Amino acid sequence: MNLFARKPVADLLAESAESEKGLKRTLTAGTLVALGIGAIIGAGLFVQTARAAAQNAGPSVTIAFIVAAIGCALAGLCYAELSSSIPISGSAYSYTYATMGELMAWIIGWDLVLEYAVGAATVGIAWAEYLNNLLTHVLHWPPIPYEWSHSPFQSAVIDGVTHSGIINLPALAIVIALSLLLIKGTQESALVNNIIVIAKVSIVVLIIILGWQFVNPAHHTPYIPANTTYVDPAGVSHHFGGILGILGAAGTVFFAFIGFDAVSTTAQETKNPKKAMPIGILGSLAICTVLYVLFAHVLTGIADVSFYRTKGGEASVAAAIHDFMPGYHWLGSLVTVAILAGFSSVILVMLLGQSRVFYTMAHDGLLPKMFSDVHPKYKTPYKANLFIMILVGLFAAFVPGDVVGDMTSIGTLFAFILVCGAVIILRKKEPDMKREFKVPFVPLIPILGILVCASMIYGLGWLNWLRLAGWLAIGFLVYFGYSVRHSVLRNKKN
Ligand code: ALA
Repeated sequence: MNLFARKPVADLLAESAESEKGLKRTLTAGTLVALGIGAIIGAGLFVQTARAAAQNAGPSVTIAFIVAAIGCALAGLCYAELSSSIPISGSAYSYTYATMGELMAWIIGWDLVLEYAVGAATVGIAWAEYLNNLLTHVLHWPPIPYEWSHSPFQSAVIDGVTHSGIINLPALAIVIALSLLLIKGTQESALVNNIIVIAKVSIVVLIIILGWQFVNPAHHTPYIPANTTYVDPAGVSHHFGGILGILGAAGTVFFAFIGFDAVSTTAQETKNPKKAMPIGILGSLAICTVLYVLFAHVLTGIADVSFYRTKGGEASVAAAIHDFMPGYHWLGSLVTVAILAGFSSVILVMLLGQSRVFYTMAHDGLLPKMFSDVHPKYKTPYKANLFIMILVGLFAAFVPGDVVGDMTSIGTLFAFILVCGAVIILRKKEPDMKREFKVPFVPLIPILGILVCASMIYGLGWLNWLRLAGWLAIGFLVYFGYSVRHSVLRNKKN
């Protein structure tokens, strides 16, 4: 059995041409930058920033953002090279199939489920937090009861009474609604997305400008807290302060950058992908990095760490504005509404990315064929979308946000490492392939990318390493139980 059978690059390119008949090519470079920002700014900034400050880094979460951005930029260059030379659906999965063989491609495809599906669930859960904030602080209605808006693994003491979660219904509802929207078609989704992106970026800029005057320098001293341990309410201990604190925070806020690579999964629907892809990926990454560092500086300056460990633990940005920016109640309301819309666009792009990965894997026979069925009218892989809706819905309804958040980060970091490796291998194996965009200083840049991403994986701690290993073990069962027997490439060879 050849586990390392590689899919010829020529086959990939032929499929890309063939795809003209399947998915429609409607996206341009501008839409891609918007799609990128739409995917990038979300729960990572509005939920994980405060969590990383509370659990790991305090104000030095800004440094963590820079570490994460460096890792993303290095991997992003590698993504840009691969997506500009192999313009096909399936992202890192397709690149790995061409470079490192079927087993590695499977691993990465399975791993991308963590990034897109589990990531979409994470944002869905954050959406539920801000929905409750909308109900209580903006509309002055009662919130959705704790039991119906939290996972069974969460509990909290409210007014002296202990409440335990049963199911996160709002998170489930938003996942279902957006999955149905996606089935209707990418073009409409991209238009809605453009409007939301403008609202989202405006709100981030507003918070930076208006919040700056409320920054209390005492909250920023010391900027890098001393090295200690913080035990969260669930009893999990975290490195707090020092370099390890920064690395742990970087792993967590890395979530905030996830999404720029989702752009590359839409290559089959992009006009002139060889040029549009690098612009879309790196452009959206650059804009977000600047915004994030400034935003994190303001957020950790408005309130101190103890606030984000307690009262400000949920819907943290709105909570901080509400409690520490007197006179700016309207900003808190605006933020909440914009965030709800903004999170929706993130979930949308992640669901889109996931369905395209499934589409490609099904096309290759590694997943059941039905996932590559295209809807006769809407031209979308609707069966894949429906299955993903159920998968993401289960995570959103029953798992806590911090667990799925860190699982998303570690899965994506692992995928990034493989993408960096793929660039080095493909340069050796297919030296003459036409590359519209080339990573400078190969192999130095990919190797640095691997090192920075690996250091963040290290920072995420053993519990997350274990979760990643468990996820990959399930993936092997599926691969050896189903995919090896149905692989199109394997059957062609035999
Ligand atoms: N980067 C996306 C977010 O922060 C996944 O929500």
